[in-house]
Amino acid sequence: MEHLQTNATTERYAKCIEVSKRIRWDIDRDVIRGRKFDFTKNFLPKGLSKIEQLPFLSGEERRVLSQIQGRTYANIFGLVERYIGAKILEISREHWLGDQTALEALVRFTDEELKHQELFRRIEAMIAEGMPAGYTFMPTTRTASSPSSTRTCSCSTGRRNPSTRSSTSWSGSARTPGSPNRSASRPSPT
Ligand SMILES: [Fe+2]
Repeated sequence: MEHLQTNATTERYAKCIEVSKRIRWDIDRDVIRGRKFDFTKNFLPKGLSKIEQLPFLSGEERRVLSQIQGRTYANIFGLVERYIGAKILEISREHWLGDQTALEALVRFTDEELKHQELFRRIEAMIAEGMPAGYTFMPTTRTASSPSSTRTCSCSTGRRNPSTRSSTSWSGSARTPGSPNRSASRPSPT
């Protein structure tokens, strides 16, 4: 029975490899596609942002808050992706000198998660282009580019620089992996 279970597991890993080779998506080609964010729009759906429950904010303030939330969403999920990759690499240790099908599947999975990280970094940078200075996302983990730095989180609702507003217009919808035609203003799931 144990042998059958091992074979079934290996087959599942092999299926992951097959799908990974067949479905390869590119951040620029398949998701961003040369578009920019439209800063006249909210960046998160109301059901998620709950901005309608803040009656003391004006319409403009709610929109800006939604955009701050969207940027923070991208930052948080970019951070979460790091942990996914680290965990998968940890699991892969069991297969380093064993089941190479399992190892390849996990390496490919990690490669995908690294791409997710990059996607969220790109989204965050694109939103930053149209927002005023003052926003800072400070995770309490070390960053890859600056291992010794630690940061905390704070956000600003300051007004946007009008000179940058006209340069942004994210129109239509973006296809994100596994979820065709998802709204471009919603960052991809992990
Ligand atoms: Fe992911």
